[in-house]
Amino acid sequence: MHSADLIDDYELIAELGRGSSSTVFVAMHRIMQRRVAIKILNTDVLAEDSSRKRFQREAQLLNTTNNPHIVKIFSSGSTTDNRPYLVLELLDGKSLSQRLKENPIPVSEALALFEQLLDALHCAHEMGIVHRDIKPSNVVLCNSPSGVVAKLVDFGIAGFIVEAGVHLQNLTQTGDVTGTPTYMSPEQCQGKPATAQSDLYSFACLMYECVTGAPPFSGPQPIRHDVSSRPCTAGQTRRTDTRVAGKHHSQGA
Ligand SMILES: Nc1ncnc2c1ncn2[C@@H]1O[C@H](COP(=O)(O)OP(=O)(O)OP(=O)(O)O)[C@@H](O)[C@H]1O
Ligand SMILES: [Mg+2]
Repeated sequence: MHSADLIDDYELIAELGRGSSSTVFVAMHRIMQRRVAIKILNTDVLAEDSSRKRFQREAQLLNTTNNPHIVKIFSSGSTTDNRPYLVLELLDGKSLSQRLKENPIPVSEALALFEQLLDALHCAHEMGIVHRDIKPSNVVLCNSPSGVVAKLVDFGIAGFIVEAGVHLQNLTQTGDVTGTPTYMSPEQCQGKPATAQSDLYSFACLMYECVTGAPPFSGPQPIRHDVSSRPCTAGQTRRTDTRVAGKHHSQGA
């Protein structure tokens, strides 16, 4: 990996995960020899002002939270080639989406995870923060001596509830749809501001998927059931959990 010069104090060791806008690496602090996760903005979205702003926003929001089930942030900065990065607590485990590829989670185990994630959401909501992108790939299941600990990551499109409208206008244009269709609440699909209830809608989709193995709505156009107020067509099974960020268009039959 030709990354030695990217971030002064850290050596990037290996790629941990890749999202739609960023890549997460395991890294080592050169002096303290501490292992951390470093999330760096992908080069293909580097030119987008909104992507940089979201990174800044993620750093600020994570810095205000303090909960055992929300990933911790240590610092943030820019690489030598001017890519923003976040230095995060290194989570040792696999994402919930990876875990769900194996098989559904038995209800008794799933309940413990749900309780932990609801604790994380409650903490964020109490602080006035709405996550806006709750989905299995934004949950990491960490191994610990006392069992599996769930951690919520990726506050990249999160915002303050009280200024959700302002947030939308600042980071996207009014009416834009930002989120992941399979898990997005009807109001988010319509480009309206997200609230704590929007996160709970997405969380309910996540719970459904954990115990059944598939999300409640999926298919080529999982957003359609929200926008047109019609249920998703039966038999649609293709998973679509890629994040979208585009103008809202009403989708006809
Ligand atoms: N602190 C961490 N420690 C270990 N792995 C992590 C950490 N943060 C994120 N990951 C892994 O990296 C993946 C991508 O991270 P993240 O979701 O923050 O990126 P993103 O580009 O914002 O994603 P999205 O596709 O949702 O926009 C996650 O799905 C998770 O598997
Ligand atoms: Mg993500």
